[in-house]
Amino acid sequence: MAELKFPDGFLWGASTAAYQVEGGIENVDWAQAAREGKVPSAGQACDFYHRFESDFDVAVNLGMNAQRFSIEWARIEPEEGTFDEREVEHYRTVFAALKARRLTPMPNLWHFTLPLWFSKRGGFLHKDAPEVFARYCRFVIERLGNEADLWLTHNEPMVYSGKGYWDGAWPPFFKSPLKHIRVISAVAAAHRAAYTAMKTARPEIQVGIANIVVYVFVDWFWNHRFLRLIAGYQDFIGLNHYHHRKFGITKHEQESALRSDMGWELHPMSLYRCLIALKRYNLPLYVSEHGLADAADIHRPEFIQNAARALHRAIGEGAPVKGYFHWSLLDNYEWTEGFTKRFGLVEVDYATQERRIRKSAYVYKQLCERNALLDPAVNVGDSLFSDTTRSS
Ligand code: FCB
Repeated sequence: MAELKFPDGFLWGASTAAYQVEGGIENVDWAQAAREGKVPSAGQACDFYHRFESDFDVAVNLGMNAQRFSIEWARIEPEEGTFDEREVEHYRTVFAALKARRLTPMPNLWHFTLPLWFSKRGGFLHKDAPEVFARYCRFVIERLGNEADLWLTHNEPMVYSGKGYWDGAWPPFFKSPLKHIRVISAVAAAHRAAYTAMKTARPEIQVGIANIVVYVFVDWFWNHRFLRLIAGYQDFIGLNHYHHRKFGITKHEQESALRSDMGWELHPMSLYRCLIALKRYNLPLYVSEHGLADAADIHRPEFIQNAARALHRAIGEGAPVKGYFHWSLLDNYEWTEGFTKRFGLVEVDYATQERRIRKSAYVYKQLCERNALLDPAVNVGDSLFSDTTRSS
């Protein structure tokens, strides 16, 4: 059986986001929208705010050596300019728990949810937004900057702007092409200001964003336009990847494609394609999210093995990939889908908060522990990459 070996020090982890798992966050735009009946309520979610230690035990027992998580801005700065030191201490204990388990942290400073006071004053479209966001980021770095080397400012700015300002599906529920264009620039400006503030406070940290990379049809607008807007203001690139679309296929091909519970097509080659597409930036690459909703856990084992094949192949072709964070460690609140979609390596019973490790998690464990994929199907692996259609 062949072995696909990964570079020493490769990070293998899982990813979470505060609002999706912590529970008890009420002073953000999403919680307000839930109170107004516009989106499902996150409530206590996975109670990760109190259970992170036992959840990190699970991660470490699954062989992982890293974790991505997010810090909730509204906890740290519940009112404009007022910072809550008790919440800083909370996140310090999160870092300590990771360190005690030798899990390399990748904290993210903003994952979609905005403090209510910030959203009420116009969110990122307010003229002071970049300075206000940068002030929060700098505050966190001054307090907690020595706890991690790899920091993310934003998660998927193109998804945030698309869902919130174009589709009208997420807070602040705008359907405005003009606002959409403006908010993309504003979010990029906020990242640049945050980057400068964070690097001034601690030049030694590495700062990036988690960017979604999608299908080639809108490649320039979605993928490269934003990266161009923040050129020179990132030390690494986080790649979140979920979507693959083929154009010019028959209805039958369309209908017979393998799909996750979200209806998203499962297409192993697309992760490889995205990594190769990001090679041009000459920056270290981390897959900061990649996963699938699969309540029955039927597709996840192979999905994980195929991800390893894609990573290995991209690295072999010179893509500087340094780590992979599976989405997600736990089942969690999936935005407008509420708790109906199951992305976790670990299943959560929301009524009892019990955790149950899914079978696929043991496939991931073997990969993490060996830092290699024992590949039972090398030839299958090769054929995955022979498709010549455009994808992402
Ligand atoms: C990504 C989000 C993450 C999660 C996954 C399924 O776009 O960053 O919070 O919802 O999708």
